Amino acid sequence: MQAVVIESFGGPEVLRLADVPPPSCGADEVVIRVVGSGVNRADLLQRQGHYPPPRDASEILGLEVSGVISAAGPGVLDWRVGEECVALLSGGGYAEYVAVPAGQVVRPPRGVDLVTAAGLIEVAATVASNFARVGLAAGETLLVHGGAGGIGTFAIQFADALGVRVFATAGSPRKLTVCRELGAADAFDYHGDWLAALRRATDGHGADVILDVMGAKYLPPNVDALATDGRLVVIGLQGGRSGTLDLGKLLAKRGSVTATGLRGRPVEQKAAICAEVAATVWPLIESGRIRPAVETRYPVEDVAGAHRHLASGEAIGKLILTW
Ligand SMILES: NC(=O)c1ccc[n+]([C@@H]2O[C@H](COP(=O)([O-])OP(=O)(O)OC[C@H]3O[C@@H](n4cnc5c(N)ncnc54)[C@H](OP(=O)(O)O)[C@@H]3O)[C@@H](O)[C@H]2O)c1
Repeated sequence: MQAVVIESFGGPEVLRLADVPPPSCGADEVVIRVVGSGVNRADLLQRQGHYPPPRDASEILGLEVSGVISAAGPGVLDWRVGEECVALLSGGGYAEYVAVPAGQVVRPPRGVDLVTAAGLIEVAATVASNFARVGLAAGETLLVHGGAGGIGTFAIQFADALGVRVFATAGSPRKLTVCRELGAADAFDYHGDWLAALRRATDGHGADVILDVMGAKYLPPNVDALATDGRLVVIGLQGGRSGTLDLGKLLAKRGSVTATGLRGRPVEQKAAICAEVAATVWPLIESGRIRPAVETRYPVEDVAGAHRHLASGEAIGKLILTW
């Protein structure tokens, strides 16, 4: 089969299509003939050698795909060859075929084009599992950093659908408009004083929950932005991994800080998250309450172009490789 391979870590130019052995199908796995491969920021880091795959995961990039079941192991009862699906992967998605535990495979939401569906499961699983972790509830206020990105465009819409008041940050006027159009009550330019803007917009309350992709750089202002009993959940480290946490401020607010990664979770946890996404998120997509993110498609032959686009900071929503 064809797959995108990396001969040595580096820039987008190290990505190339090559013939590799197809994956074998484990007893509790299915093999998917890939139609679309979601491109995620983590893929850029892995390409550069900064984000090694978990043990036992494929060395091939790619954390999510859509496609058609081409084989099912003897322990798999609920999938038939030829059925359309989307899958959450630990790796291996930039390939014509990928093997994955059946629990991490779900049917695509009805009415969504199969290529578009390739970009749904990673963001939906990440956002839904983290909202559940911090108990985000209707009536609360959420701040989403990077509201126009893949994670952000989904998080704004999902939280809005849950009855949460959402604010977001973004880096350009065009992206601020995207955040507001998706349902954010307001959006703030992160080059300016977003903390003061949030305080003004919430009459000093701040955010009950913050979904953060910046890590260390935003740790002090995020703690300042938390409301009493607020919860900060860090899912990205784009601003570094080690920061200073003012425990005095956190204590006074009865706040909490948590950080999670989806990729390294055990198969059973990923399966539970996928089932929850199919049960709670897919109906919102099927009813039109959540629109799949704006997407840009790249033929897999131009995978380097897709990586350049995501790295440029110009991308809105999701990028998808087509096979
Ligand atoms: N922990 C997990 O399980 C998990 C799972 C999936 C993703 N992630 C992480 O989540 C992050 C977002 O992923 P993605 O797929 O949405 O990537 P993406 O589409 O490339 O989005 C990156 C986002 O970061 C924003 N950003 C950049 N600098 C910022 C700043 N100074 N302040 C606020 N926002 C800033 C960008 O905003 P502009 O575009 O407006 O500049 C953009 O929205 C990545 O770090 C990724 O690794 C984590």
